[in-house]
Amino acid sequence: GKGGYEHYMLKEIYTQPNALSNTIEGRIQDNEICLEDFPKGTFSGIDDVHFVACGTSYHAALYGQQMLNRAGIRAQAFRASEYVGSNPGPVSDKTLAIAVTQSGETADTLGALRQAKSQGARVVTVTNVVGSTAAREADDSLFIRAGPEIGVAATKTFSSQAVTLSLLALRLAEDIETATPPEDKAELLRSLEVLPENVEKLLTSTEAKRIASRYAGSKSYFFIGRGLNNAVAKEGALKFKEITYEHAEGFASGELKHGPLALVTPDTPIFVLFNGENDTKTLQNAKEAQARGAPVIAVASEKHSSADIADSFLEIPDTHPVWSGLLANVKLQLVSYHAARNLGRPIDKPRNLAKSVTVE
Ligand code: F6R
Repeated sequence: GKGGYEHYMLKEIYTQPNALSNTIEGRIQDNEICLEDFPKGTFSGIDDVHFVACGTSYHAALYGQQMLNRAGIRAQAFRASEYVGSNPGPVSDKTLAIAVTQSGETADTLGALRQAKSQGARVVTVTNVVGSTAAREADDSLFIRAGPEIGVAATKTFSSQAVTLSLLALRLAEDIETATPPEDKAELLRSLEVLPENVEKLLTSTEAKRIASRYAGSKSYFFIGRGLNNAVAKEGALKFKEITYEHAEGFASGELKHGPLALVTPDTPIFVLFNGENDTKTLQNAKEAQARGAPVIAVASEKHSSADIADSFLEIPDTHPVWSGLLANVKLQLVSYHAARNLGRPIDKPRNLAKSVTVE
């Protein structure tokens, strides 16, 4: 049941600390990554990674891709529907295809998984559902262990996917001879272990609700971030449009000036994600929007003074830059939820959408 929450989505947002604890449990031991079916050395010989996924899972794949790229591993995230029937470049037994799918039943993703497999790639499924089609068809599976998700809009499964893919990326960085694991791995893992507590902390604040009301009735909602936060900006916008039916778009911060800026007015609030990496540039991009009258809502930890210029502030706990986006994402989930609730939308079952999309 909803466990006292008004909607499944709200329950799923609020139970993320628990979901994340399950995702992480037993997977970090003495500063080492321990991944069930993927012991040390499993991925030696791999030289290229193709993520295939749709929707929110694609945004998690973008997160995973960047975690690999940071370690110097060749990796690309594909929208599964674009992968199928196209030529994604060379595929061989040195290619690892990672199908990211909450349900494990998404037709586009299954199509991409089958294509990669038939071309000789090694295929791993990252999913929430044990026994799903994608899990059965892949060579191996890694489970995100988020627990069942009932709300059509994916929330806790995004967080658990991004964490699982990051752990997988760290394993790959150890296994691939040419890769360079992060220098601050110990710090990175320590911050991951406290991620559930950090999510818990940010859930107690009511500022997301206030922001949702303050900017209600705007023409469009924009979300910008760079690097890992580009994935989060896109996810923030997808969630917003899915459940509020309002227009929202997520962009790479630096892309704003290459076109979307034409849409920016005092009637287009812009959520700006900061994580301590290249914040100065993102701040500059935020100022460009602000100069056209757009209200800027900074999503940042208090110590990122870049947020000073902001019209509104969504505070997240300070953490390693790699996990910051996941905290920001939870804040944005809450903004979307409250915006949709104010509009009286059927939050758990948005019109025209289904929890698993079994047609191509
Ligand atoms: C977004 C959402 C969809 C799914 C997409 C993929 O909130 O729910 O975008 O993420 O249909 O579904 P899975 O992950 O089951 O393959």
